[in-house]
Amino acid sequence: MAGKIPPQFIDDLLTRIDIVDVIDARVPLKKAGKNLHACCPFHNEKTPSFTVSPEKQFYHCFGCGAHGTAIGFLMEYDQMSFPESIQELADLVGMTVPTTQSISQSPATQNLYDLLDKVSQYYVHQLQTHPQRSVFVDYLKHRGLSAHTIEHFNIGMAPDGWDNVLRTFGTTEQARQQLAEAGLLSSNDKGRSYDRFRNRIMFPIRDRRGRVIGFGGRVLDDSSPKYLNSPETPVFHKGHELYGLFQARKAHRKLDRIIIVEGYMDVIALAEHGITNAVATLGTATTPDHLRLVQRSTPEVVFCFDGDRAGRDAAWRAAENSLPLLGGNQQLKFMFLPDGEDPDSLVRQQGPEKFNALVELAQNYSDFFFATLESRTDCSSMDGRARLVEIAKPYLRHIPAGVYRDMLEQQLADRAQTNIALLHKHLDKPAEQKLKTTSKIAASSTTVSPVRMAITIVLQHPKLHSVVGDFDKLTSLERPGINILVQMLETLRENPHLNTAALLERARGSKHAEHIQRLALQPLSLTADELQYELIGIIQQLQQQAIKQRHAYLMDKPLSELTDAEKEEIRTIAI
Ligand code: UTP
Ligand code: MN
Repeated sequence: MAGKIPPQFIDDLLTRIDIVDVIDARVPLKKAGKNLHACCPFHNEKTPSFTVSPEKQFYHCFGCGAHGTAIGFLMEYDQMSFPESIQELADLVGMTVPTTQSISQSPATQNLYDLLDKVSQYYVHQLQTHPQRSVFVDYLKHRGLSAHTIEHFNIGMAPDGWDNVLRTFGTTEQARQQLAEAGLLSSNDKGRSYDRFRNRIMFPIRDRRGRVIGFGGRVLDDSSPKYLNSPETPVFHKGHELYGLFQARKAHRKLDRIIIVEGYMDVIALAEHGITNAVATLGTATTPDHLRLVQRSTPEVVFCFDGDRAGRDAAWRAAENSLPLLGGNQQLKFMFLPDGEDPDSLVRQQGPEKFNALVELAQNYSDFFFATLESRTDCSSMDGRARLVEIAKPYLRHIPAGVYRDMLEQQLADRAQTNIALLHKHLDKPAEQKLKTTSKIAASSTTVSPVRMAITIVLQHPKLHSVVGDFDKLTSLERPGINILVQMLETLRENPHLNTAALLERARGSKHAEHIQRLALQPLSLTADELQYELIGIIQQLQQQAIKQRHAYLMDKPLSELTDAEKEEIRTIAI
């Protein structure tokens, strides 16, 4: 797929964008000498070992070994595909990815997105023009929504009838198949297809990039099911998506906090009252996937639940699901609404100030965690406190090793009135996460071959290629890496403006990619002048060796076997 995007375009893109902007928008960076750093978003840590080099347009974590270019960062951090990352970066600097068809998806998937978008527009259009629209409009008004909010969330209506969408969009067999694949049709026992959504208020569900991926449809009365949602389709996976995330991200350049609520209408009513940082799960419990999704957008997540039993149970499920993500850079909190209220009813009756005040009162994760566990045992007795340790044990095991787990263990010890040493005897600790380190590189740096050194210098200081003289004979040398070096010098001769990141991207997918990435990280302790002379020296030396080797080879050949051209070559070889 990568082959569809011309390498020159990627080169240009990587010289136009700045990796610092790309990363800083997601992980705030601080200046540290000529580089920038932050706590690594790819593993848990307290002191920053994640470094971004503006010069090389490259990031690297000394803790876990994560590294790459801006493209690689988006692929890792935003979990985008290679073409999607390129598209995102191109959008950022207003470049058009040169390809006839959209590169970000296979054509079939792209068609689904296009169809879902058109159907969403159709539902909106129905709400504006359909003869029976007034019931729907009145319902939305009655729920306190302004025209602005209705438009902001692209709320629409599916008119009553079995085949409105089917007739409008399913004009060919292929089109009907697509409608089915997009989850817009249902079928009866006899295999007859009809519109899945009928006589419902329609809420398009968008992914974080704003593409419509599915719908939720609400009835106007109290018939059942209240909400009908799109089924799982190639583009819609309920447990991974959050309703309103796109709108929340759009409303804030930086989201200081995201509130996770339960319902579509909660997100929308909060937005109506100026609280534009709420998102909702789609009728499922909060999963680690949800948390990872918001983790990339905000440092603080507040789970908002009903204060009733069901709400508390749902909150505990969210707490359990969050265990593997604890201790990262994100704060998790819990807030509870008065019994019987949801964010929608509360904000409408008591105003946004009241809701915001409750957000401020949200409980820290650890407080909620212990309060819940303590409610299951009697902590005034020793037996009860022993039981507390027993029930807490399996949970602690799911928390990544680190400061946060240590502190929770300390708190458990305090609450159980035991000491941490005793507690540890009983907590089966999982093996500490082994971090990849770069020490291998450091250790081997004493035995760097000239070829490897040359590649490293060219890679890290591509501009120096201009001082390199002839290197035409190098390919005949049998040295590990010589082809990489020659290829890199040739690439730079043709494209003198390439930076480190562009060179790395050109190696993507080749069998040397990993190796080259490692060389890009190799510390070089020479000054700019020294690097230049080192490079000139190595290339000259290699070129001479190649010439000598060729000369020796030709001289060894019996005269009778030498071609005329080779005889001429012996005469002209300068050694
Ligand atoms: P709620 O019933 O709390 O939704 O269900 P709500 O948004 O407050 O609904 P209103 O205020 O009565 O309009 C929470 C979420 O659970 C899912 C939906 O995602 C809903 O927003 N749900 C609920 C369904 O998928 N199907 C249902 O029948 C009910
Ligand atoms: Mn509600």
